[in-house]
Amino acid sequence: MSWTGGYISDVRYPAFFYKEMQPLWLSTVAGLSGFTAPRANADFTLCELGCGVGINLLVAAACHPGAHFVGVDFNADHLTMARDAARSSGISNVEFIHADFAGFARDNRQNFDYITCHGVWSWIAAEQQAAVLDMVSAGLNQNGLFYLHYMCHPGSTDLMSFQHLLNLCAHHMPGPSPRKAQVGMKLLQQMAGSGIFADRPDLMRHLANMAKRQPEDIAHEFLTDHWRPQHCVDLHQQVAQAGLRYLASADVFNNLDPSLSIPGRMQGLIRQTQIPALAETMKDMARNAHQRMDLFQKEPTPLNRDHFAAHIARMQFRLLPNAPSHGPIQFDTPIGPITGPEAIFTPLLQRLAQGPASGAELLALPVFAGDVVALLQSLQLLMMQAMAHPATADAVMKGDQVERLAQWFRQNAIQIDMIENCGTAVVARP
Ligand SMILES: C[S@@+](CC[C@H](N)C(=O)[O-])C[C@H]1O[C@@H](n2cnc3c(N)ncnc32)[C@H](O)[C@@H]1O
Repeated sequence: MSWTGGYISDVRYPAFFYKEMQPLWLSTVAGLSGFTAPRANADFTLCELGCGVGINLLVAAACHPGAHFVGVDFNADHLTMARDAARSSGISNVEFIHADFAGFARDNRQNFDYITCHGVWSWIAAEQQAAVLDMVSAGLNQNGLFYLHYMCHPGSTDLMSFQHLLNLCAHHMPGPSPRKAQVGMKLLQQMAGSGIFADRPDLMRHLANMAKRQPEDIAHEFLTDHWRPQHCVDLHQQVAQAGLRYLASADVFNNLDPSLSIPGRMQGLIRQTQIPALAETMKDMARNAHQRMDLFQKEPTPLNRDHFAAHIARMQFRLLPNAPSHGPIQFDTPIGPITGPEAIFTPLLQRLAQGPASGAELLALPVFAGDVVALLQSLQLLMMQAMAHPATADAVMKGDQVERLAQWFRQNAIQIDMIENCGTAVVARP
């Protein structure tokens, strides 16, 4: 096994897709939060720091042939797979740069409208984190969006002892990282079997979830030397030093009104809280959040009331293949199941089933009758559950790269279906 800067580099990270990192999703979330955002059509630029095997960039590049994409990673094997996929799919608007973040921050001369970083921040050394922020500070355009995923308290606090043990095991065992991860997991399970976690149901739940994951995934997640969750407020202050402001969560559930997104007993307390940092911390505690997908902006410009209304009216939405034909819908949320009433969701789903609809058209449905808040809450619940999605407003310049990428996914047994007219993909059901 080898560690590069304390991060493992002897095994490929599995292919994962996250809709929350895609440019149309990010610009939509900024718009729904009341801010102008770079357009996610035509000729924007996007950089992913720590792109792994490149799945998220490949999807974006195939769906947005007029834009330019850059992926950075220090694992050459990851980039070999990413470049192979781009070549096989005829995707020519993505480049993969072999560098660590410090080297890239030093050498990069490009500017970006979007910078994304998923599954990286909480796993790297402080000097690499500083390099990420240096790069973002220098390389993000004015008004540009920065997506940062990280592990947070209080939901991940318990995992620190598991991670420490798995990392320690790995340092004292020969062999490849997935094997070390399996041996470490077995030790944790033997400890659990002895009954010592009997009064810690959260730890038992974490262990049961970890046991379902592939050894390669566990190795990347837990064997690093630098695993540490943060409080969101501390992270926001750190990013603020780079000149960026926190806008919203790219996980849209977190942006919903507390009446939907916070357990009932806490709603009143959070509503009374005037200090945003305190309210955000209380929300993480109320949801026992273990990770966050935060969206930051350089020099954010709030939309005024009229511009916000016009912006929402212009947005387009489509149904995704997993959507039901009518309500009620059970939404699986971090605070448990929520039922979306039939009276709201049946007319909304029926309209979307006829084809893409603008915000203006949806607002005119009798069930919403111009109530923007009710419409946006309903749409965001559907977006969260991959039932509806913002749609690309402008006709995408057609090529065959989307179909060829879909074919490459099939050939490599990667369960991801392309949704070209939403500029995204969905994780296929087994
Ligand atoms: C867990 S993977 C995440 C991959 C991808 N972002 C995703 O979410 O699917 C973390 C990636 O960051 C890369 N990485 C870790 N530390 C790095 C560093 N200091 N410089 C460049 N890449 C790094 C690893 O090689 C790995 O590909």
